[in-house]
Amino acid sequence: MEYEEFRSRLKVEEKLDWRELATFVPNKTQPIYNWFYYKEGFAKELVEKLIEMFGLKEGDTALDPFCGSGTTLLACKQNNINSIGLDVLPTAVFASQVKTINYSTEDLREEAKILFRRKFRKLEWEFPKIMRGMINKYALDDIAFFSSIIDGLKNKDFFTLALLNASIKVSWAWKDGGVIKIKKHPVPPLRKLFQRVVYKMIKDIEESLPSEASVRVLQQDAREISLDDDSVDAVITSPPYLNNIDYTRLYAIEDFFMKMRHVPALRSFVGVRESQEQAEAYFDDMKDVISEMHRVCKPGAHAAIVIGNAYIKKEIETDFILAHMAGEIGFDVEKICVLNKRFALENRTVKVGTLRESLIILRKK
Ligand SMILES: C[S@@+](CC[C@H](N)C(=O)[O-])C[C@H]1O[C@@H](n2cnc3c(N)ncnc32)[C@H](O)[C@@H]1O
Repeated sequence: MEYEEFRSRLKVEEKLDWRELATFVPNKTQPIYNWFYYKEGFAKELVEKLIEMFGLKEGDTALDPFCGSGTTLLACKQNNINSIGLDVLPTAVFASQVKTINYSTEDLREEAKILFRRKFRKLEWEFPKIMRGMINKYALDDIAFFSSIIDGLKNKDFFTLALLNASIKVSWAWKDGGVIKIKKHPVPPLRKLFQRVVYKMIKDIEESLPSEASVRVLQQDAREISLDDDSVDAVITSPPYLNNIDYTRLYAIEDFFMKMRHVPALRSFVGVRESQEQAEAYFDDMKDVISEMHRVCKPGAHAAIVIGNAYIKKEIETDFILAHMAGEIGFDVEKICVLNKRFALENRTVKVGTLRESLIILRKK
């Protein structure tokens, strides 16, 4: 069906009361979800609404091919639904794994004791310039000291995420749109904050209900998914938006922690394009992703895609374009729910209109 005809028939529903659910904001106060702040994330509650809308039940498997900080995976786990998450960013894969593993809290408490009883020792670590510009030297000494102990612990990843979380809290950097800004201000001692974060994380686990649902997180490109045909019961995801922001540059502290763990570097990033002419390349990438989503879905399975439109001299209706694409690939396009309307900015300051942020609901025939 031609795009114009498709657009005129498309069912578009406003759901602006779900506005916040397209953002990470509600997760900031949610135990475990808030172990890692991910600006590009969506809310736990959105996933829960979709689980209900799609009628997912225990034993079903949901896929998030752009799992980010693991919101879909954790929400599925807590609702006893199996899940598989993919992401190319090592930090995202790492955070998703740490948030969804089952832990023994006795072991964690035992290891925390070891960690905080050790006498401080200054190590001669050479931190990269970018880290020295963001974190004070006493905190860097603490990072070096604690990292060297964490390295020998059984729950190394858990404590590494806690240390990363505390390090971000004491850094002078904050993410503003697509850039990192630095403003020096007094910060609490890292050691104290780290201790607080660790015990809070342990408490979060103790207070959460156990779940036997399986969670698999893979560092993998969503354009080539290593899953069998007709193998998942739903897809719940949010791909990168077409906005030319290179997120890889925004995560300097996180990357440093990943290098300490020797995780392989990033390979490819859907959505990071140098110029507006390359918007086409974004849609080529997304065509591959949606084809893969279609292939791995069981017949009758639903897919939900949260996506924001972009402004490149004019509004690019990414939501309608992706929905049309999905229809051509073989999905039924059930509807589009408009969750939010954001200001479109030119040169990041001048308001030139509004852009939709939408939820596309698809179903494999
Ligand atoms: C909008 S974020 C998803 C956030 C997630 N819903 C959450 O709540 O944390 C998009 C993610 O896609 C990942 N990504 C970008 N290109 C990718 C690719 N080719 N394959 C898999 N993941 C990719 C990015 O690293 C990022 O984590």
